[in-house]
Amino acid sequence: MNIVILTGAGISAESGLGTFRDKGGLWETADWRDLATPEGFSRDPGLVHDFYNMRRARVRAARPNAAHAALARLQADGRHAVTLVTQNVDDLHERAGAAGVIHMHGTHLVALCAACAHRWPAPDQMAPADTCPECRGTARPDVVWFGEQPYHMDMIVSALAGCDLFVAIGTSGVVYPAAGFVEIATRTGADTLELNLEPGERASDFAAGRFGPATQVVPAWVDEMLA
Ligand code: APR
Repeated sequence: MNIVILTGAGISAESGLGTFRDKGGLWETADWRDLATPEGFSRDPGLVHDFYNMRRARVRAARPNAAHAALARLQADGRHAVTLVTQNVDDLHERAGAAGVIHMHGTHLVALCAACAHRWPAPDQMAPADTCPECRGTARPDVVWFGEQPYHMDMIVSALAGCDLFVAIGTSGVVYPAAGFVEIATRTGADTLELNLEPGERASDFAAGRFGPATQVVPAWVDEMLA
């Protein structure tokens, strides 16, 4: 079976990484307009670098959880063709053994040159004085901010067009284009499943949903798929 899986912050919640919109989430304690927009970065690059430096440190200290491991197991088994798309900028899927992870919102482990688009591994701490090793342009985290075009959309849409099953895991379904993937999958005749702590914004668009912590719900679903 061709399976496309989309993950959000909820799959990394039990690894100790914050989500955005839950109680005490990242966007409750800080304003996304300051931290996750090109305008915010040009207004105060130091504030934005501090935010991603903090998140990069948290990710380095975090460990993949049973949900990340289960998805890697499903992919490695080989009986199903699994395309793993994530909105997350952490590398916990990779550290759990997943391959070919599509980071549609980029990853803060990579630095990007705002001038020439050169990319290089992000140091633990980035600062406004950092410049591109190629052209001396301004260095920024390689993260897709609000108002910017998500990455790899052509690859994602063609995977959705050819899938038999679309599964959304740990995402609130409020940010597009990811929130609209269930519609694309449904239109092409795929089955759809939401695995989440609680029903997301688009829950009624999924053919089925299972709710609970990802470390319980995801391994149980993978066990069924591999039974
Ligand atoms: N297990 C499973 N799901 C969980 C858990 C858990 N332990 N804890 C929280 N969740 C769910 C919440 O119920 C919610 O549906 O994870 C989801 C988190 O939603 P958001 O915080 O909105 O995160 P996400 O959907 O990934 O946000 C999408 O918004 O700010 C932008 O670019 C950012 O990629 C992010 C995008």
